[in-house]
Amino acid sequence: MAASSSPPHHVPTALTLLFILVSATTTNGSIGVNYGTVADDLPPPGEVARFLLQSTVINRVRIFDPNPELIQAFAHTGIQITVTVPNDQIPRLANLSFAQQWIKSYIQPYFPATNLVRILVGNEVLSTGNRLLIGTLVPAMQTLHAALAGASLDRRIQISTPHSLGILSASTPPSAGKFHGGYDVHILKPLLGFLRSTNSPFMINPYPFFGCSEETLDYALFRPNLGFLDPNTRIRYTNMLDAQLDAVFSAMKSLGFGDLEIVIAETGWPSKGEPSQIGAGQENAAQYNRNLMRHVNSGDGTPLMPNRTFETYIFSLFNEDLKPGPTCERNFGLFGPDLTPAYDVGILRPTVSTAVAARQYCNAAALLSSSVAILLLTMGN
Ligand SMILES: *[C@@H]1O[C@H](CO)[C@@H](O)[C@H](O)[C@H]1NC(C)=O
Ligand SMILES: *[C@@H]1O[C@H](CO)[C@@H](O)[C@H](O)[C@H]1NC(C)=O
Ligand SMILES: *[C@@H]1O[C@H](CO)[C@@H](O)[C@H](O)[C@H]1NC(C)=O
Repeated sequence: MAASSSPPHHVPTALTLLFILVSATTTNGSIGVNYGTVADDLPPPGEVARFLLQSTVINRVRIFDPNPELIQAFAHTGIQITVTVPNDQIPRLANLSFAQQWIKSYIQPYFPATNLVRILVGNEVLSTGNRLLIGTLVPAMQTLHAALAGASLDRRIQISTPHSLGILSASTPPSAGKFHGGYDVHILKPLLGFLRSTNSPFMINPYPFFGCSEETLDYALFRPNLGFLDPNTRIRYTNMLDAQLDAVFSAMKSLGFGDLEIVIAETGWPSKGEPSQIGAGQENAAQYNRNLMRHVNSGDGTPLMPNRTFETYIFSLFNEDLKPGPTCERNFGLFGPDLTPAYDVGILRPTVSTAVAARQYCNAAALLSSSVAILLLTMGN
C-alpha cells in the first residue's frame, strides 16, 4: 500500500503551519482596548483584568464611566487605566467643589493601586450639538485639572476628551484638513491650548469602517491598493487611517498646534454586520486590527507625522449584546463573553498563542490523518 508512506511527508507541512501560526499570532507592540460593558453576559471585572494581564499584550484600558468595581479590578495589575466622565456630568464639573468631590470619590480611593493615567471629559461632545455641554467642556476640563492639582495628582493623571472626525469640515485631501468654523476658534483653540499647557494629547475616534465603500475597502483595510494622491503635497496615501490622522493634523496645525501628540481613543472593525454593510466580517475585522496594531506601533508614523507611534485603543474588548442600533454595533469585540478570541488578531501573549496554534496544529493533523484514512479507504476499494 503505497499510501501508507504519505503521513511522514505531511508532518513537516504541519510543523511549518505551526510556526507560521505562532509568528502570525505574536506581536511586539502593546495596544489599548475600550472596555465597554453594555452587555448582560460579560465575565466579572476581576476575571477580565487577570485575563488581560496574563494572556494578552493589552496594557492600556479605557472604561466609559467611573465604575468603582471596574477601576478596582485593575488594582496592582499595572495596566494603564483611562476613565471617562459621562457627558451629562460635564456642566457640573465646571464647579470646582463638585470637581474636587469627583476626584475624591472616583480617583483618590483607587490611586495609585490602580494605575489611573488619564480622565476623559465626555466623549465626542462637539458632535452632540448640545450647546450647554459644548460650552462647558473646556471649563470642566480646566476645573477638573485644578482639582487634580489640589490633590497633587496633576503630574500623574492627564485630562483630555475624544472627538469624532465629525469635527472636521474638510478632510480631503489630508493637507486641507480643517475644523468646523465656529468650533475652531471658540472651542478647539482653547481646548488645544489647555492640552498643550498640561502636556496632554489630542484624542480622536477614527473609523475607516464607517468611511469606506466597495471601492475603498482595500484602502481602509491597509491592503495593497492604488491609494489617493494629495495634489497639494504630492503625497500618495495608501491607507485611510493615515489620511484621517493627517487631516486632523492639518486642522490642528492651521490653529498653531501641530506639535501636540495625537492619541487614537477608538478605532475598530465589526466581525458581523447587516448584509448591506460593506466590509463587516471576521476576516476583515482580523485584518484591520492586525494591520492597525502593526502600523501604529511601527514607528513609521504618517506622511505628515513621520517616525511617530500612536497610542491606540481598539474598540472594543467585548461584543456588547445590549447595544442598540444595527448589528455591527454589537459586534466590534475582540473577545466573546467566555474570553475566547472572536478571531485571531495577534493580541494573545506568545505562550497563549502557541497553545492556540498547537490546538490548530492538532486540528490540522487530525484533518490530515482523516484525509489519509479516507484515501486508504478509497484506495482499498
Ligand atoms: C520584535 O522584536 C524583536 C526583538 O526586539 C525584533 O527582532 C523583531 O523584528 C520584532 N518584530 C516585529 C514584527 O516588529
Ligand atoms: C457646586 O458644587 C457643590 C458641591 O457639589 C454644590 O454644593 C454647589 O451647590 C455647586 N454650586 C453651584 C453654583 O452649582
Ligand atoms: C525619520 O526617520 C528616518 C529614518 O531613520 C530619517 O531618515 C528621517 O530623517 C526621519 N524624519 C524625521 C522628520 O525625523
